[in-house]
Amino acid sequence: MKILLLGCQGQVGWELQRSLAVLGDLVAVGRDPANNPDRLCGDFHNLAGLAETVRRVAPDVIVNAAAHTAVDKAEAEPDVARTLNAEAPGVLAAEALKLGAWLVHYSTDYVFDGSGSQPWRETDPTGPLSVYGRTKLEGEQAIAMNSKHLIFRTSWVYAARGGNFAKTMLRLAGEREMLTVIDDQIGAPTSAELLADVTAHALMCTIREPALAGLYHCVADGETSWNGYARFVLAQARTLGWALKAGPEDVAATPTASYPTPAQRPLNSRLDTQRLRAAFGLTLPHWERGVTRMLHEISGKQ
Ligand SMILES: NC(=O)c1ccc[n+]([C@@H]2O[C@H](COP(=O)([O-])OP(=O)(O)OC[C@H]3O[C@@H](n4cnc5c(N)ncnc54)[C@H](OP(=O)(O)O)[C@@H]3O)[C@@H](O)[C@H]2O)c1
Repeated sequence: MKILLLGCQGQVGWELQRSLAVLGDLVAVGRDPANNPDRLCGDFHNLAGLAETVRRVAPDVIVNAAAHTAVDKAEAEPDVARTLNAEAPGVLAAEALKLGAWLVHYSTDYVFDGSGSQPWRETDPTGPLSVYGRTKLEGEQAIAMNSKHLIFRTSWVYAARGGNFAKTMLRLAGEREMLTVIDDQIGAPTSAELLADVTAHALMCTIREPALAGLYHCVADGETSWNGYARFVLAQARTLGWALKAGPEDVAATPTASYPTPAQRPLNSRLDTQRLRAAFGLTLPHWERGVTRMLHEISGKQ
């Protein structure tokens, strides 16, 4: 089986390089052709080049981990966000259709308006609040043109590699005696590792049983606020021996309304994972387990 992975240098893309490698012949492509096999085009601004890459590789499976993920920046450049998050996935879907290839894609809790307090199901009405959310939703619709697809909506992704919220909290707690963090957006921090492992498992199941194709919510178990997440990170970091000026007791709470950002974010980012767990026989670990693991990994590098 030949697998074309796009966006291989991102948080999820990097972990997919690991989890997909055992499934077949993996061609991992990033944005910069200089680092790609055969200088393949992996730049989502170049839609013709992207189509050409799919034709040249002729994969059985395309996994797309590339996206415009800068949520606030997207408000100022909606056309760029639309090209990367909606038009490029549309190109991938059209090329996959011609090849009869499977297409795996990632989306977001930001397709919802964040109302209520119930976890969102796959069948719930969407209502994105931001350019990022709108263009990601358009991307889902474009991907679904190819019926042989898996789309995983996830939230609050982190990884040991690259920048993330936990690392920002650790840096700030090393500099300041007091932090203020939002406590009314609720979701589940989800590791790129978990997403990559679920992807590999679900992909193999779906190839064997094509009726499993479709849209799934994929997040770690449990829920917290950004404030709770920050406090957990600082408490764990303390036990791991990090020298911090601020501990978990020094993280003050503030509502989203007091912290305006260019993009509006949903308050209720809870995603219901029942469909994913039932379809693929999965148990999703609690978010604290993945965050603890990531902190152990980066602790060796402080
Ligand atoms: N991060 C989150 O909290 C979160 C939450 C919900 C859903 N998701 C979804 O999960 C998926 C993976 O996200 P992630 O967390 O791994 O994001 P990430 O770490 O920001 O990675 C995004 C990747 O897209 C690439 N990219 C950006 N512009 C590109 C372009 N013009 N051409 C080709 N590649 C380009 C980036 O390349 P460079 O490395 O060269 O910049 C990077 O490799 C995305 O679909 C995202 O929407 C993420």
